[in-house]
Amino acid sequence: MKNKLIIAIDGPSGAGKSTLSQALANQLDYLNIDTGAMYRSVALLASQQKVDPHDEAALKKLCADLSIDFIRGNGAERVIVNGVDVSAAIRTPEVSLLTAQVAACPAVREAMLDQQRKIGEKGGVVLEGRDIGTVVFPCADVKFFLSATAAARGQRRYEELLLKGIDVDLQQTIAEVKDRDAADTARTLAPLMQADDAIVIDSTHLTIAEVLQKMLNVVAAMP
Ligand code: DC
Repeated sequence: MKNKLIIAIDGPSGAGKSTLSQALANQLDYLNIDTGAMYRSVALLASQQKVDPHDEAALKKLCADLSIDFIRGNGAERVIVNGVDVSAAIRTPEVSLLTAQVAACPAVREAMLDQQRKIGEKGGVVLEGRDIGTVVFPCADVKFFLSATAAARGQRRYEELLLKGIDVDLQQTIAEVKDRDAADTARTLAPLMQADDAIVIDSTHLTIAEVLQKMLNVVAAMP
C-alpha cells in the first residue's frame, strides 16, 4: 500500500462521518481534518465579531486572519482557532445555523479550500466533509461516501440529544435531518454530492466497528 494516502469521507449530516473519520485516522496514524469544524469556526468568529453573514468582504477578511489547528488529545480532537480552544463553542445550535449561511459564501469556500489543500496535499490525511471527493481533492486516493436513511440518522441524533439530557421529539429530529439534507444538496456552490468514483457505504444497519472495518479493508487493498 502506498504509504501516505489522501482519504476523503463525504456524506450527509448524521451518517457517522466524524466518528469514522477520527477512528480511521487513529488506526492509520493519519491527520484527521474535520472540514465542517473549519466552516463552524468561521461562523463562530463572525458571530463574536458581529460580522454580517451576507457581508462577503468582511468574511473574506475574517478568513484571511484565521488560523485553525486540530490537536489530538485524550482520544478526542480539539479545534483551536487563533489560539483558543473552540471545540465546544462551535457545536451550539446557533453556530450550526450560522454555519450553513457562511458556508454558502464563495469567499469563505475559497479560503477554506486553500487551507484544506495545503493541509492535505502531502497525504497521510483523512478529510471529512461534503465536497472533499468532488471539489477539494477530486484526485483523492480513496473516496468514501457514507450514507444512512434520514430515519436512522434522525434516530441517532435523537438518542445523542437524550443522552445529553435534551428532550426533543423524534419526528421533529428526523424532519430537521431532512431539512439539512435539502439545504446541503440544493446549494449551488459545492453542494453535497457523491463523486462518481466514491465507494458508498450505507451505515443504516451497520455498527461503527463494522463500517470502520469496511474502510480499513478498502485502504489495505490499495496498491
Ligand atoms: O459536518 P458539520 O455538521 O460539522 O458541517 C457544518 C456545516 O458546514 C453544514 O452546514 C455543512 C457545511 N459544510 C460544508 O459546506 N462543506 C464541508 N466540506 C463541510 C461542512
